Parts: sequence; structure tokens; C-alpha cells
Amino acid sequence: MKDTDALDTILRYHAQTKHHPDRYAPSLGYMDWENQPVPFRWFNNTEKIDLFHPDIRQTPGYDALFGSIPDPAPLDAVFISALFYHSLALAAWKQASGSRPWSLRINPSSGALYPTESYLISPGIQGLYDTGGLFHYDPMHHRLERRCRIPDPAWADLSSHVNSSFLILGLSSIFWRESWKYGARALRYCHLDVGHAIGCISFAARALGWKLSMLTHLSHEDMNHILGTGAMAHTTGDDHHKRSQMKLEHPEQEVPDALLLLTPDQRDAESGLPKPTHGPDEGLCRALKARFSGLTFEGAPNRLSREHHEWPLIDDAALALARTESTPTFPDKDPANAPIGWPGHFDRPDPSGVIFRKRRSVSTMDPEGILALDTFYTMLARTLPEQFMFDALVLPAQVSLVLFVHRVESLLPGLYILIRNRPGSEHLIKTLKTTYTLEPEPNCPEALEFYRLCARSQAEQPADVPDQWRDSILIDTSNPETIQDLASRISCHQDIAGLGAFSLGMIARFEPLLQSMGPLAYPMLFWECGLIGQVLYLEATAAGFAGTGIGCFFDDMMHRLLGIHTISFQSLYHFTVGRPIIDSRLKSLAPYHHLGR
Ligand SMILES: Cc1cc2nc3c(=O)[nH]c(=O)nc-3n(C[C@H](O)[C@H](O)[C@H](O)COP(=O)(O)O)c2cc1C
Repeated sequence: MKDTDALDTILRYHAQTKHHPDRYAPSLGYMDWENQPVPFRWFNNTEKIDLFHPDIRQTPGYDALFGSIPDPAPLDAVFISALFYHSLALAAWKQASGSRPWSLRINPSSGALYPTESYLISPGIQGLYDTGGLFHYDPMHHRLERRCRIPDPAWADLSSHVNSSFLILGLSSIFWRESWKYGARALRYCHLDVGHAIGCISFAARALGWKLSMLTHLSHEDMNHILGTGAMAHTTGDDHHKRSQMKLEHPEQEVPDALLLLTPDQRDAESGLPKPTHGPDEGLCRALKARFSGLTFEGAPNRLSREHHEWPLIDDAALALARTESTPTFPDKDPANAPIGWPGHFDRPDPSGVIFRKRRSVSTMDPEGILALDTFYTMLARTLPEQFMFDALVLPAQVSLVLFVHRVESLLPGLYILIRNRPGSEHLIKTLKTTYTLEPEPNCPEALEFYRLCARSQAEQPADVPDQWRDSILIDTSNPETIQDLASRISCHQDIAGLGAFSLGMIARFEPLLQSMGPLAYPMLFWECGLIGQVLYLEATAAGFAGTGIGCFFDDMMHRLLGIHTISFQSLYHFTVGRPIIDSRLKSLAPYHHLGR
């Protein structure tokens, strides 16, 4: 598909999968319980390697992760076990009276459908497996399934491109898992889930003194060859009819998302700057492609559903997103030169492993729960792009946060903005200024560019605002009830968006970025949003509050509120934080009780 066609396809997908108050994005409209996908993938006829279950209390303090880097742990069986246990393993089972228990994971997922699969490329590890290879991670049993062997000479070749020990993690998505319930909007949710998963792995790696970076010099076909995931049906035709005929080869096919390089986070003792562990990733990617070509994959994937519903919008978008080039150009981002993130105010004793596992979404928030101002600012500071977890992304930050503040100590309820991408936010600020004045918040930490949005009166609005927009933007942003009502209305009438301490929309630079970078930027924007969501989840948990991702929101209602009337900026994910009301009717079971643990 030509790049311009691919871009059109993505812009069409985005427009057609918006929720509107009178028209939700296309979906089945009912739950097809007969074909509910199995939430776990496994590969039959593969060697299974059980991992250890580490003590979650033997992990560095959660707050300490934002300060100094823990000494890098050696790459061994305990390391591999801990990496998965703290990032993608089961976290708990929940059970309602009279129903079967369902499992939850360290990584959150829209509708608990878990479309993200993960793979490990590793050398031989004493006590686990003698020969290196590619392994699929099975969270149900916290074990690896060997998909192929990498002979020692091949591993030596890969190693020659990295001057430290290393691992590679691969992520892929099964769109069907999400589209079964959410229909056409599912592809967005899958990519948000990938962002959450990247966040989980970054945090787990940090707790082990390691860091993550994304390998960029790989096409989708390369990633398919390396991960043993399915190929996509391609056609060279570019007329609309042909394009609408294209689809994934099988509805349960895994589509590769990204390969992540994990290396020890070594710092120069004097400057504190990261020591380079590898040069440009080109050499490593070339070696991966060469070494994985012709390898035989073991095992066959389980079937997830008996029958499937087709979502051509998703198939078209997935094909448009398939990266055909292996050398995409990304804007410069040099983590070594980035300022060190402000670690925030806290030094709470909770071990990070406990916070990772305790994190839960909630369905009800306590309207009496007021968040302390210090905690609030620390949460915001930790979503800034200079924090360690954003090193895993290749795109520089594109997303700012528009907050509906309801119950934060000493802050007037109202609309606020946190600018996360200082260079590049000028156009957003200019757009907002047609509707609002931006008032700096007194006493806000210097590290934060945080403003209160005060609605201009109609007379104050610039003359070039078209008449038909004026009504929609006349909102009394100083009235707490209006703000709460608006927040929940925009979030598909979900009360949790209005009952918490605050909720927010993630506003991404959109069409100009896609025009300059191509459709490839589309999933990356969702990854950034998912990663921000993961930080907020953990921050809320550490503060004794709870967060919940909100994928269901009325896109253009949010845009109208902000005076955004083009697709230069789009809201891609919403999130809420508040004091949880725990549903005591639900019973919690230990994550691996079914293994006798
Ligand atoms: C991308 C994404 C979108 C979500 N959207 C919603 C939502 O609109 N409403 C809601 O109540 N929960 C939402 N959630 C929360 C999930 O339902 C929750 O993560 C899942 O049930 C697993 O539970 P856990 O987060 O406690 O592990 C979302 C989560 C994610 C990751």
C-alpha cells in the first residue's frame, strides 16, 4: 500500500471509530458469549520452562525507582523469573458469588481481554534452559514455552552488537481478543494495552537495574520472522475495492508490535550519565534478521474461539500500519541528553513489587476522597517524558494532559492542562487560547508546566471563532458540578470520571505528525498514552488511591470542549484517579493458587 493510501486508511479508521453520544463506534451490539476468546495463548507441543515465583517484598522501594538506579542484577534464572513476575504475570483472581473466578494481571487491559502476547529472546540460562532461543511467555502458569533454538554461534553474532549482557522482548497483539467485545474501536485499545505493557516491563526492568529501548530497524515482516507470528495477506492493488478485500490471514493472528532491547542500566560514576551499551540498533537488527531466517518454530497456537466476526476496518488499518521499511526515520530523541526527571516529593517505604501487584482498576470512587496537593504534583511530575520509562519509546513526547480536577487539596475544581511536550506544544496552546486563558498555578513545582484553563466570555473570544462553535465552548469551568458532570458525560457517562480526585484526557499532536512520519506514528501515540496511564495507575496505588483507564469516551465532545475543531490534536485516552470503594462482594484469590501457591 502506498504511504498516502495508508495514511488515508488510518485517518478514516480513526474517524470511523470515534464514539459519539448518539452513535457509538461500530460493534456487534451484543455479547457473543459462545465465542468469547480464551484469554490465554499457548503453544501445544512445546518445551515448557517453569519460572520462579520471587518474593515481591524483596524489591527496591517504589519511590526509589525515580531516584537512583538500583545496581544492575545479573542475568540469571532469578532475573528472568522476576522480570516477568513483576510485569506481565497474573496478579490476582476475582470471584463473585456463584460465578467462576476470572484472572487479572500485573498489566491492565481494556475489558480484561489481554490482547498483548509477549516473547523472550535469550541466551542459555543456567537452571532454566541450556540453549538460547525464542520463548513465548505463558502468564497462566508463569512459564516459558520454547518456540525455537538459537545455536551458540548465532547468539555470539547477536552479542557482538551489544557490549553488555542483554535480552530482547517482543510484543504482539491479537486484535480478535478485543474486537470480540469492542468491535472496530478495538485496534486502538490493543495499542493502549501495548503502551501499558511497555510501562510494566520498564518498571520491572528498573527494579532490576536494567533499562529498555525499542529496536527500530525492523519491518513487520522482519518481526514476524523473528517472533514466529503470522504473515498478513498483502495486495499491491490500491483501488478501494481491493483494499476493502484485504484481511489478516486468520482472525486470531498475532500482529507484531515491537521488539524491546533490555540492557543493564550502567551509569558513568562521575557524570551519572548512561553508559552506552550499544551503538545504533541497525547492526543488531541486521543480525537478528539474518540469524532468524530459516529457523524452525516449534508448537502450534491454541484456538481462541470457534467462530469470529470480521472487522474490515481493523484489517484495513492493521495492513496500513504494517511497516514495510526496516529503516523508518524518527525525530531525534537522545535520552542521554534529556534532563533528569524530578523524582517528586516522596520516599514511601512500599516495595515496588508490592505496588505493581496491588494495582487494580475500580468501578466506584468515593466522592469524599481528597488527594493531597504534594501527591498530585508528584503524580504529574512522574508522567513527564524525562522519567526513565519513556526511554523505551522512540517518538519524542507528543501528548499533554487536560485535567478535570474535582477533589485535590487547595486546588480550585476546574479544567487544567499539564504541558508534557514543551517544544511542540505551541500550536496546542494557541488553539486553547481561543477558548481559555491559561493561568499559571501559583506554588506549582517548577518542573511542571501546569495551567488552569479559565473560559473566556463570548465577547473575549477571538473574532475568527466560527459562530457554530461558540455555544459548544461556553462552559462554566469554575463550577465543580459542571466539571464533574462534563467529565463523566465525556467518558461515556461513566461516573468514575467525575467522582474521583481528578480525571483527564490525553491530547496528542495528530495529523501533522502522521503527515510527517507516516501512519507508523499512529500506534506509537497510543503507546505513549498507555504508558502515561500505567504511571498514573502505579502512582495512584502508591498513594493509597486507585486509577482506572477509560477507553470509552466521546472523542469530539472532548475536542469541542477544548476548542479543537480540526484533527491537528486528538484525545486518545482518558484516565481517572480517586479514592476507591472496594466491592466487598468480590472475593480475591492468590494469583497462582491454581498451581498450589
Ligand atoms: C486501555 C484501557 C481502557 C480501559 N477502559 C475502561 C473503561 O472505559 N471503563 C472502565 O471501567 N475500565 C476501563 N479499563 C479498565 C479495565 O477494565 C481493567 O484494566 C481490567 O478489567 C483489568 O483489571 P485491573 O486493571 O484491575 O487489572 C480500561 C483499561 C485499559 C488498559
